[in-house]
Amino acid sequence: MKFLVTGGAGFIGANFVEYMVNKYPEDEIINLDALTYAGNLETLKNVEDKPNYKFIKGDIADREFIFDLFEKEKPDVVVNFAAESHVDRSIEDPEIFVKTNVMGTTTLLDACVKYGIKRYHQVSTDEVYGDLPLDRPDLFFTESTPLHTSSPYSSSKASADLFVMAYGRTYGLPVTISRCSNNYGPYQFPEKLIPLIISRALNDETIPVYGTGENVRDWLHVYDHCVAIDMILRQGKEGEVYNIGGHNERTNLEVVKTVLRALNKPESLITYVTDRKGHDMRYAIDPTKMETELGWKPVYTFDTGIPQTIEWYLNNKDWWENIVSGEYQNYFQKMYVDKGRVEE
Ligand code: NAD
Ligand code: TYD
Repeated sequence: MKFLVTGGAGFIGANFVEYMVNKYPEDEIINLDALTYAGNLETLKNVEDKPNYKFIKGDIADREFIFDLFEKEKPDVVVNFAAESHVDRSIEDPEIFVKTNVMGTTTLLDACVKYGIKRYHQVSTDEVYGDLPLDRPDLFFTESTPLHTSSPYSSSKASADLFVMAYGRTYGLPVTISRCSNNYGPYQFPEKLIPLIISRALNDETIPVYGTGENVRDWLHVYDHCVAIDMILRQGKEGEVYNIGGHNERTNLEVVKTVLRALNKPESLITYVTDRKGHDMRYAIDPTKMETELGWKPVYTFDTGIPQTIEWYLNNKDWWENIVSGEYQNYFQKMYVDKGRVEE
């Protein structure tokens, strides 16, 4: 089987590529990524020389490029991680979210219709359901919760989901969608909450907490997300949506304090800053469908995953220090263009 994984130089995509390359040596994994600010090939060092792995630089919204790629590679399965993924950036500049997240998705879908595909899987988010009130801990997102988005990011992801379902119904494309809660773990870009806390606290820098810090997120270790997607690809039913989450709800303040404690850093580093516009209050996934229909169960809880993640950031300081300094952006030039591996 030939897998085309898009966005495989980002946080979750890279974890998924590494997982797939190692778990299925008989399969071919093509990683297609535009290498935006969020893409980092250093993340893929452990797999870049494996015979069943190949990297291609390109934009999922570039129709000519995508159609040429499908013509040449004829992938059996597409797993679309490629996206603009940061809510704060979507508030500053929504348009690129429409281009990549919506038009990039429809471009991939059009190529799948033209060239045929065994499965198209869309990696979506629980943020398409909007948010839940803090005073109703009995409420959870299920797969039939209506889409009700808050940010330009979540609106672009929900739009993409609607197109994916429409291509399933209209053109008979074999599609699946997963909607996962907030991920954490190795290789997460330090603009997102948990790696931001770790990297800043290690440098004794302030930790910005938006608003009161009472907002709740439902955290899942990235490894468990990768396993869930693999199960959906192999056992999931075409045309279905699967929610992924492990019941690890924490307020942002709890997350910050837990990480500071683990790093032996003082709570005085916490600084309350202006709240995010339209800030969602609470996300909480009901993962019953994944558990009962596919037998998925997360390996990590927050209490085991956070120490593992902190240890990874402590052991891989170079990786995130290169990001903080901007050095990582030269990696592609140095390792790929200068060595004649690819043409720019
Ligand atoms: P990320 O920002 O770390 O990585 C995104 C990757 O996509 C980067 O490598 C980037 O270079 C690439 N990319 C961006 N635009 C592209 C384009 N036009 N063409 C090709 N590649 C492009 O994101 P992430 O956190 O790894 O998220 C991956 C996916 O999972 C996204 O679709 C996101 O919506 C979804 N998701 C994320 C979370 C989370 O907590 N991070 C939770 C649920 C779902
Ligand atoms: P983030 O990691 O950006 O994920 P998302 O917005 O997709 O949930 O943020 C997680 C939570 O942490 C969110 O409620 C916003 C908050 N937050 C802060 O309080 N300070 C920060 O510096 C960041 C990046 C996020």
